Order: sequence, then structure tokens, then C-alpha cells
Amino acid sequence: MAVLEIRKAGDKILKEKAQPVLKIDKRVKKLLDYMAETMVNADGVGLAAPQVGVSLRIIIVDVGEGLIELINPVITACEGCELGNEGCLSIPGVFGEVERFAEVTVEGLNRFGKRVHIIATGLLGRALQHEIDHLEGILFIERAQTIHKG
Ligand code: CO
Repeated sequence: MAVLEIRKAGDKILKEKAQPVLKIDKRVKKLLDYMAETMVNADGVGLAAPQVGVSLRIIIVDVGEGLIELINPVITACEGCELGNEGCLSIPGVFGEVERFAEVTVEGLNRFGKRVHIIATGLLGRALQHEIDHLEGILFIERAQTIHKG
């Protein structure tokens, strides 16, 4: 296991569109393990592979309901919208109000290549949307209606 370096805003990998995972091999599984350790170490609720310098479509989220690992995640349905506070491990000390879908259906693969289907609201839904944005090179500060430090 290992704690990876978290890339900070200004690093160009955070602005790139991440590439799909074509094969879930040992390298991908090891990356998932390292990402989980890195997220826990940083006290975060979500992490996307580009944040640890790997431009692949992989995210993890844990809002206190257990770890979710998603490979090639896609939002397949959404409903409503709500404003909520967000931060990002790549932008330490900065927070902002971001409008997100109130409910999303997200599909992707787990580490065993099995299709996963999650319907999420609240913090989980928000975290999933935030992490999927990272795969498109979008940071929450670009969507935020208000930004504050603290
Ligand atoms: Co983030």
C-alpha cells in the first residue's frame, strides 16, 4: 500500500479528459488500493485518478457508507438540482456552493469487472458528480456560485 501525492490545482493533468480503462488488470487494482489509502490519509470523501497523476476514468467515494470504487463511471439519469457546499483535496482550504443534480444514477464497473448501478442523493450523489467532473478536467471552483476560504 502507499499514499500517493495529490496533484493540486494548476497541475495540467487536472485539466485533461481522462482515458477509459480498457482492461481491469493488476495495475488498476493496485491503483484503486493506493487511491483508497490516499483518500483516507487526506481525510477526503472522494478521489479521482487524475488527482493522483493517472489520467484514467477511475473514481472512489466514501461518504461514511462504505467505499465505492467505479471504473469508467457514467451518469445515466439525473433529477432535480440542489445547491451545496464542496471542497476538493486538489484545492486545499477552498470551499464553494455548487449546484448539482439532486439525484443521479451512475453506472460503471467495479474492480471485478461487474457492472455497478448506483442511485444516489445527498452527499453521495454530490461526491459522485464532483469526482466524475474530475474525469472531464472540471474542478468544482469552475462551477461554484460562491467561493470562500476556510
Ligand atoms: Co475534487
